[in-house]
Amino acid sequence: MKIVVSVGGSVLARALSPEKFRNYAAALKDISKKNVVFIVTGGGKAARDYIGVARDLGADEATCDLIGIELTRLNARLLIAALGDDAYYEPPRDYKEAKNASLTGKIVVMGGVTPGQTTDAVSAVLAEYIGAELLINATSTDGVYTSDPKKNRDAKKFDSMTPHQLIEIVMKTEMVAGANSPVDLLAAKIIERSNIKTIVLNGEDPQSIVEAVSGKHKGTVIGK
Ligand code: UTP
Repeated sequence: MKIVVSVGGSVLARALSPEKFRNYAAALKDISKKNVVFIVTGGGKAARDYIGVARDLGADEATCDLIGIELTRLNARLLIAALGDDAYYEPPRDYKEAKNASLTGKIVVMGGVTPGQTTDAVSAVLAEYIGAELLINATSTDGVYTSDPKKNRDAKKFDSMTPHQLIEIVMKTEMVAGANSPVDLLAAKIIERSNIKTIVLNGEDPQSIVEAVSGKHKGTVIGK
């Protein structure tokens, strides 16, 4: 099966530690024995810190995004280092490069691609482009909730939902300033149009990704 895993920077690199990357690499190597695997890494706190400083210095938003993309690629490089020979040696800079890189039989790890979006959207477009059967979004919450569970104690988790329900939730969440959306709106729209089975789960322990690939998880399934 072809699988795209989006690993939030908040999960992979909240506090930079070799152990986290090593554990992730071990889990991804495990999955790649029987599957074709693509990983998209987020930027996490480092990206937010750099973007914050750039914004204070008067940089425009597109420039801030370009800085964010560089940070996502640095996390991709750390994961490539942890995967060693099992990974394609460089983070591809676009979807075509990613598809070509995968022909080597190696695990492909990439970061952001273009300003105006996040790596959630990158992983959804990549999943569509390479014909993935499964998209896993490993994040810091354990699924999609009716509203932001960090702000609303009555928020309820979905075990499964349609892509359209996801879009409605994301739009409602994104209208509240500073809210934490489970995935960005562009990603939700692409998941809807391509109807790729998507699982949003807590990626704190990378074993949860291994289990999701074999059909066991406690996250939210979107679609199919
Ligand atoms: P992330 O995907 O990590 O953003 O990209 P995020 O959702 O804010 O963070 P986490 O990791 O889930 O906590 C970091 C930043 O890089 C830029 C954006 O500015 C984004 O906020 N970016 C990333 C792009 O502009 N384009 C991309 O394709 C990817």
